Formats: sequence, C-alpha cells, structure tokens
Amino acid sequence: MAGLVLAPSILAADYARLGEQVREAEEAGAGWFHVDVMDGHFVPNLSIGIPVLESLRAVSDSFMDVHLMIDNPESFLEPFASAGADLITIHQEVATHLHRDIREIRRLGCRVGVALNPSTPPETLREVLPTIDLVLCMTVNPGFGGQAFIPEVLDKVARVRRMQTDLGIESLHVQVDGGIGPSNARQAAVAGADVLVAGSTVFRGEGTIAENYGAIRRALAVDV
Ligand code: DX5
Ligand code: ZN
Repeated sequence: MAGLVLAPSILAADYARLGEQVREAEEAGAGWFHVDVMDGHFVPNLSIGIPVLESLRAVSDSFMDVHLMIDNPESFLEPFASAGADLITIHQEVATHLHRDIREIRRLGCRVGVALNPSTPPETLREVLPTIDLVLCMTVNPGFGGQAFIPEVLDKVARVRRMQTDLGIESLHVQVDGGIGPSNARQAAVAGADVLVAGSTVFRGEGTIAENYGAIRRALAVDV
C-alpha cells in the first residue's frame, strides 16, 4: 500500500543512545518520528519533553511529530514549536478551547493534530476537521508503551474517513498509535490509517531496529 508512513515512537528507545537509534531507524527508511510527552496528570506516567526534542532536532532532519499527553497543552505549544516540532498533536479531552489551540499551533508554523482516546467519539471533531492535518486515533489508552492494541478503534478510523468524505476534505492524515506491529499494521491501513506509530515493535523487537522496522514495512506492503 503506497503513501503510508511508519513512524517510530521514541518512547521505546534507549535514551542513552537516542541519536544513534534514530539514525538507525532513518537508515531503515524512517523519515517521521513520534515523540510522546507525558505529564503525570493527563496520563499516569512521565516521559520526555522540550530538551530531548531540541537535541533530536540538532541531529535529525526527519519530521518530528509531538504527541502531547498533557493537561493545559496551550501553555507548551510555543516551547515545543521552538524546539523543532513539525506537527503538534493535542488531546481533544483536555482542550477546553480546541479551536483556539488549533489556530495557535498553525500560527506557530506547525502542522496540527488532534488525538482521541479510545472512548472519545470522532464526531467531537466534526466542527474542526476541515482545519486540522491529522486525527490521532489512540489504539491503546495513552500513558504507556507496550500495551495491547484495541481492535475496536479501527471502526473509529473508518468513521473519521467517512466524515472526511462527507465534509469534502481533500487531505487528512489518520494516525494510529499503540500496540502496532507486523500482525495488525495492515489491518489498520485497510481501515483507513495512513500514519502508523510503532514503539516497542521497532525499538524493542527481536531483531535490530532496521530488521524490526523492515518487518512492519513488509507487512504493510502485502497487497489487499
Ligand atoms: C502511548 C503512546 C504511544 C506509545 C506507543 O501512550 O502515545 O505513542 O509510544 O508504543 P507501543 O508501540 O509500544 O504501543
Ligand atoms: Zn503517542
């Protein structure tokens, strides 16, 4: 299937060797990386933030997709944009003024994504869908890497695509994030996802990063 992006999530990387591991994934063909930011409030875990993105930006020209799993995302849009984010995704569940935040991300020169937890219906994005670049359908409850994929979310992916058609929106990325690997990547793409995030299966799989990345790519390449 052409035009699909497979984006490694650095959450599962070895942070002591982050630059090296990102380079290895790039050599295997990755050009889009997913950066998970957690605050211990919106999600019950902490991860990395602005300095790590800055360091990554200094060693990589790849597309940096920042997934903010944080309360009050509006307070951190500018710092992440300045640190080198190409796309900033905020959660629908915490954005009281979603329309304003979308405008602000755009004003900062970044692409705009909005994420939906597994329990959040996609229709909540109807009003803003024409103004965003990406809908992230969480295929796990956010907060941790290495969780099991929730297959019911694929119906939501298809509903986002139907809404896109209804509204006459020409281009929109639909991203899936959580529990993605060789066994379900193709299924997600068939449902309508075109950006697939994979953390554990890329950085903590059985093979090298290049082998693991290649295995998911090959699973996606199977004709449907
Ligand atoms: C989960 C994060 C995901 C996570 C995916 O809260 O948003 O991006 O890194 O990791 P895996 O692929 O291990 O489920
Ligand atoms: Zn994520």
